[in-house]
Amino acid sequence: MAPQPPSGFRTSAANGATDMGGFLGYRCSVCDRRYGPDEVVYVCPDDGGNLDVLLDLDSIRRSVSPASIRESVEDSIWRYLPLLPVTDPGHDGTPLKSVGWTPLFRSRRLAADLGLSRLWLKDDGRNPTASFKDRASAVVVARAQEIGAKVIITASTGNAGAALAGMAAAADRPAVILAPKTAPPAKVAQLLVFGARVVLVDGTYDQAFDLTLEAAQAFGWYCRNTGYNPFTAEGKKTAAYEICEQFTMAISREPVGARHAVPLPQGEWSAPQAVFVSVGDGNIISGLHKGFRDLHELGWIEQVPRLFGIQSTGSAAVANAFARGSESIEPVRADTLADSISVDLPRDGLRALRAATQTGGAYLTVTDGEILEAIAALGKREAVFSEPAAAAAYAGIVKAAGAGLVGPEDEIVVMLTGSGLKDTRAAMQAAGEAKIIEPRLEALQRILA
Ligand SMILES: Cc1ncc(COP(=O)(O)O)c(C=O)c1O
Ligand SMILES: [Zn+2]
Repeated sequence: MAPQPPSGFRTSAANGATDMGGFLGYRCSVCDRRYGPDEVVYVCPDDGGNLDVLLDLDSIRRSVSPASIRESVEDSIWRYLPLLPVTDPGHDGTPLKSVGWTPLFRSRRLAADLGLSRLWLKDDGRNPTASFKDRASAVVVARAQEIGAKVIITASTGNAGAALAGMAAAADRPAVILAPKTAPPAKVAQLLVFGARVVLVDGTYDQAFDLTLEAAQAFGWYCRNTGYNPFTAEGKKTAAYEICEQFTMAISREPVGARHAVPLPQGEWSAPQAVFVSVGDGNIISGLHKGFRDLHELGWIEQVPRLFGIQSTGSAAVANAFARGSESIEPVRADTLADSISVDLPRDGLRALRAATQTGGAYLTVTDGEILEAIAALGKREAVFSEPAAAAAYAGIVKAAGAGLVGPEDEIVVMLTGSGLKDTRAAMQAAGEAKIIEPRLEALQRILA
């Protein structure tokens, strides 16, 4: 029996469900059973399956359109509030309200390096706490406010925790973060600076995850865990909305005569043909899948992009299942320098797998060496500084382009999920050490020669 709502939570918003993107409840990704908004909090009580949030897309379609969103003054995830199952969290002017709307830019140089012509990078390292995870934490904090949960706890390899600590600080609420003691120092520093209660666990991320569930149950805290709390994927789906809205803006600026300069039918967005993203627990890729499916069901995009999940060879539980053609995700002993995607048992593995199988995408694995090369390529060729888990997605497109899994004319977006400042040790491994000299011109000449 999966853990149920701790006593003391309201399970629906104090101000009524109708404000919240037509929030209808949940559907289990394993048994398909539906639950009302008040029936469950985290996962399916029958089988522990991850829950998809259900929205009333018919009513959303009647009241919102790409054109109305275009008029939004919010340059953040909150421009999509009508499609989110939460109310506005307030706290204007704080990082809680400035998550998302990260740049999507075309990379002609990297495209040329790979024999591609239409490649875009979306840099989520530019979020307030420097990772994609801000999207999830902002929405979970908004949900916590609505249901009257005070303390929020999460397990984290670092980024989810930093994001929760930052968003909780902005909302003036307590956060408790459990991270493995091996987390990169910059990530631990972020947790501490944001004033969270930080506990480092002498064990793996997976062990920290299980301990968090126990603590949430024992102390009545609200648990944000990735691949457990259904609201994280709702935050993450906003990246899919942004990709489509920004991609549409980008191609509409193309020169007249270009294939993609054809004006779109009014009220529609255009989606790229493929999106590459790294996978640990699998919640980012399932959130993206949900976002693209929402837009497709709304009739705002014609097709859902092919989704490519990239895992490290040292942490490849979902990729292994994909290769076997099976939906059964077997745990591995994770070992990779890409700490953010170092996971034994992906907690959102099934949905992550289906994100690729249901869209004609694929799973690919990349080595730590290929990830380091990707960090260097992104830095040198596009001045983007990515942490290893983010650069893994770029290593994935390098591999896919080489193997002909994408065509040279395909429109491809690579999702870069975290800043390189999070892990400077890995960055130095990628870029090499700087030389030290005496402060004299001859010494400088010698070194330059
Ligand atoms: C930078 C970065 N990239 C990718 C991921 C993978 O996301 P998920 O665990 O949802 O697959 C994470 C998760 O921590 C991350 O921090
Ligand atoms: Zn179920």
